[in-house]
Amino acid sequence: MSLDTALAQAKRSRDSFGSLPSSPSTSVPSSPNKKKHKKSKYANAPSSFAHSPLSNGINGLPSRPSSSSAPSSPSRKQLPSPSHEGGGAASAWIRDALKAVDPRILESRAALPITSGKQAIIDAVRSSDTVVILGETGSGKTTQIPQFLFEAGFASRQPVQMIGVTQPRRVAATSLARRVAVEMGQPDPAVLPNVKGKARTAAGGLVGYSIRFEDRTTRNTRVKFMTDGMVLREMIGDISPVQTSSSAMTSQTSALRSNLLLKYSVLIIDEAHERTLRTDQVLGLAKRIQRERKALRQSWIARGKPANEAEITELKIIVMSATLDANRFADFFATPSTALRANATVTDARALAAANTKQEVPILYVKGRQHDVAMFHTEEPAQEWTDAALRTVLQIHVSRPPGDILVFMTGQDEIDTLARALELYSSELPAWAEAESKPTPMSLMIAPLYAALGPSASLKVFGPTPPRTRKVVLATNIAETSITIPGIVFVVDCGLAKEKVYTPGTAVETLQVQEISQSAARQRAGRAGRERAGECYRLYTQKAFEALPLAGTPEIVRTDLAAAVLQLCAMGQDPYTFDWLDTPDPEGLQESVLQLIQLGALDIHTPPPNKEAKGEKATARLVLTGIGMKMAMLPVSPAYSRSLIAAAARGPTVARQVRDLIAVLSSDRSILVEPTDQEKREEANRAKATFVHPSGDHATLLCVLYAYLAEADKVAMLTKTRSQGSADRKVVEKEGREQLKAWCQNHYVHQKAVKNVLHIRNQLRNICRQQKLACDDDHPSTTTAELSSDDSNSDSDSESGVDRDGLFVTHKVASEERGEEDESFVGMRQSLLEGRIANAALKQPSAPNTYKRITSAAGAGSTFKIHPSSTLHPSKMARERASRQTDAILFEELVFTTQTFARTVSIIEPAWLQELATRK
Ligand code: CDP
Ligand code: MG
Repeated sequence: MSLDTALAQAKRSRDSFGSLPSSPSTSVPSSPNKKKHKKSKYANAPSSFAHSPLSNGINGLPSRPSSSSAPSSPSRKQLPSPSHEGGGAASAWIRDALKAVDPRILESRAALPITSGKQAIIDAVRSSDTVVILGETGSGKTTQIPQFLFEAGFASRQPVQMIGVTQPRRVAATSLARRVAVEMGQPDPAVLPNVKGKARTAAGGLVGYSIRFEDRTTRNTRVKFMTDGMVLREMIGDISPVQTSSSAMTSQTSALRSNLLLKYSVLIIDEAHERTLRTDQVLGLAKRIQRERKALRQSWIARGKPANEAEITELKIIVMSATLDANRFADFFATPSTALRANATVTDARALAAANTKQEVPILYVKGRQHDVAMFHTEEPAQEWTDAALRTVLQIHVSRPPGDILVFMTGQDEIDTLARALELYSSELPAWAEAESKPTPMSLMIAPLYAALGPSASLKVFGPTPPRTRKVVLATNIAETSITIPGIVFVVDCGLAKEKVYTPGTAVETLQVQEISQSAARQRAGRAGRERAGECYRLYTQKAFEALPLAGTPEIVRTDLAAAVLQLCAMGQDPYTFDWLDTPDPEGLQESVLQLIQLGALDIHTPPPNKEAKGEKATARLVLTGIGMKMAMLPVSPAYSRSLIAAAARGPTVARQVRDLIAVLSSDRSILVEPTDQEKREEANRAKATFVHPSGDHATLLCVLYAYLAEADKVAMLTKTRSQGSADRKVVEKEGREQLKAWCQNHYVHQKAVKNVLHIRNQLRNICRQQKLACDDDHPSTTTAELSSDDSNSDSDSESGVDRDGLFVTHKVASEERGEEDESFVGMRQSLLEGRIANAALKQPSAPNTYKRITSAAGAGSTFKIHPSSTLHPSKMARERASRQTDAILFEELVFTTQTFARTVSIIEPAWLQELATRK
């Protein structure tokens, strides 16, 4: 990558700044109206941007996009003094909490565009079942509306009813929950206990969040941020062990009540415009739940409110979007649900029919404050956008007035590389300025922002920029609409984003860099004009912008549907007739269904012929099997859940291995550090060699994890013995932590990533126990709560800087209690294969070192090679003079770079494939 070259140049000498503009003030447009700018020596620096004043795509939004919309009458009311939870004793602490809120926060809340529409929003939610709210990013929808509704008493019923807010992204769910907690004077949700048992006794915590593998809520939680995936999980119902297909049916009935989201009075479906597959699922299912709850309530009232039945309340739905697609959502919710007939619990047909009629769905529009954004495009297409981004940021930094910069990039790797390059340049800036006798530029503060970073990253991104410092946020498209970063004046847009791409017929999903849509490009530009007039630098030409598609494609038409199909079937829904906002591609749907049938998760039931005689249409029906129900309960992809179930059948040792491997593969980050520096990379490879398992990458990753745990145990033992002596316990513990840290550094093991894996592993451990998937490290004497409370302790410790995990979360069982370690990891690889037959491939005789998936038809389908990062890459095998048979392999994913590569690869035996083929 040429950023590396830039990095190397920067390292060489301060001369690398020779190419910076000699007079920064003249090289960059001083006024957005100047058409001609002096050319900078930088090819794609701001000076070479063709300028055009921003078209009214951002400023000129209609004030009321729908004629059927209720007026958003911006009443100029003051923020009323908070009236919470009916004024009982329980609300006193909430009032106290609010007193402690920084007055500046209250001021900034009051200044948000949405504040004037507060009453209109509350009124609309009171009078309508569903409300669509449209508003520009940053206008205050996500942070304010849950608070408005809380203050208006929407979460005051007993037993507990919450206001749920869904987010497509984890980072958004956590960062927004934390922000709202600050605004409401609540403790930081990130340090709330993530164990249900413990939560029962915790005080405070009005605001919480729930993301996969992390539940930060307490019994006091009233405003709950969660990912779409988590609310879908709640819609399936509580996790309960299911053994056979007959018991699947009974547990389905018992799970139905939780299917109705009865713990929520309001469900806010946020960022609906993103149209992720999960959001689409949530939209259809929430609509069904709303109507079902209405019917249940009406039937309860009609029967004279029988006292022996719990009162069922209705569900309010708010759909929020940052783009102009409000009518789509309003029309969807206005029409009756087609998913209701499928498995309604309501026996009262009249009530059901009455509840499932046409609805009035008002659309409210929040007019944001958007300042002018001056637009600059490159005159020539940029060769390397990463280089162009680096130059543009530096150029802005040395030539433009104060104001933070937001750079839209594609992914973690590009962001990390640019961050390093900028850090390097930044440290050389004072010397450069001195040599050029220029005033010393401000300091640069580089703040990366991508999904894998977790809550700790948000501090740097959202915190105030220190004096005489310019913050540069390097973000993926999460900063496009999901989150608003204060202080941004300059936006640099590469015009690309990583998107999941699924090609039906190949059954392989890949993350690919794609061009964004015009609508996304406008959103990105708009980020510059939140607080004052801003500037947006597009690293592409005006022509290229005009050639972009107007809007992005919903995920449902370009993704693997297997997980969604399994979830829908687990909820008794038929994926073919489900109430989709956009119907999925029938071919893709069919493929997913076949895949699930092959995995043993679904079965086709044909009704007995006597039904036909009664005049009922005899259609084949998809039914969930016992395995399918079990799979749906596991919060991992169908491939992994099937592998885990297959592993459990092979005994507790294999089950533990597969469970731990899934934890490693489910983490966003790699547990091995992969340095970009050539020299360091060699060193890292040598370190990695000590972990390499001959069967390939899966076992190697597991060996890394187990080596870490062994080291952590060693350190823990040592610490224990030493602190039992005369030594100061704190000092000994600190030394222990440092020892472990040093081990990680020496072995190029990413300690933070390992800790994240251990966290996921603990969650999976609990889930496996609940699902009766026995692992050989299950301690009969250690309860779930004990295990997890330790984990949450260590977690909050690591938040506050004292990192204790790694030392205390291992809970490794003495080896004699464990099963025999399967040194060859045969069972593990066989289990993985059972979940992913589509990812098995055979070596092709036609060309050296090429593979083809066994499921792709003869002749058709593309071939690929093993990724160079794999331990099975031919070059590494040659170096070791290894003579391993790599005729058949299993891989995790295919990536497209210059060609197609398989990543995370292991050797399998061709005989296993035959066994699987004859299984059914
Ligand atoms: O949802 P919407 O895009 O309409 O806005 P929001 O997320 O509610 O954000 C409203 C304002 O809160 C933003 O403009 C930010 O100034 C501020 N905010 C913040 O300071 N820190 C956060 N973590 C989130 C929001
Ligand atoms: Mg929002």
